[in-house]
Amino acid sequence: MMKRVAILISGRGSNMTALVEAMKADDFPAEPVLILANRPDAGGLDYAKAEGLPTAVVDHTRFDTREAFDAAIHQELIAANADIVCLAGFMRLLTPGFVNKWTDRMINIHPSLLPKYPGLHTHQRAIDAGDAEAGCTVHYVVPEMDAGEIIGQSRVPIQPGDTADTLATRVIKVEHALYPACLAKATAQA
Ligand code: GAR
Repeated sequence: MMKRVAILISGRGSNMTALVEAMKADDFPAEPVLILANRPDAGGLDYAKAEGLPTAVVDHTRFDTREAFDAAIHQELIAANADIVCLAGFMRLLTPGFVNKWTDRMINIHPSLLPKYPGLHTHQRAIDAGDAEAGCTVHYVVPEMDAGEIIGQSRVPIQPGDTADTLATRVIKVEHALYPACLAKATAQA
């Protein structure tokens, strides 16, 4: 049975685009049913609308508490009848109460080889540490940030002279291949 996928974004949404494009394949076991952004100006919303996909904005600045913000997101996910939630450059921390409602059904992409470099500025931290390689990880979301079970990882070399920007450009390419593959895997288990 086709799983119904909601994708949460905060910005340009290039991973969201990669997921939506991958789901167009006839044999992909999932379909996008909601693109939700926490910022009204998230660039990815334009692509989603052009694709004719349902979109929603839950603007975090309009909520007094994280719990109220997360409850509003949960309502949108329920209204869309989502089976699986993909965080794709969604830059808000989520409360345990919300995360626990989606155990084993919410996944995230993170731009490092977890467990290395949870949090922000991952590429600069990898360069500063003198690492030979960097990459990205897709994992199940648990209350602890960037800590859930790993579904898949992709690696790229760090080259001499790399900046956070040049490394990010190399990593984002493999993100776009990894995330759909991991969504297919998670879909089979959901
Ligand atoms: C991606 O590199 C993603 O891995 C990262 O933000 C970027 C979003 O780009 N996510 C995080 O840092 C999560 N903490 P996109 O909007 O083009 O997909």
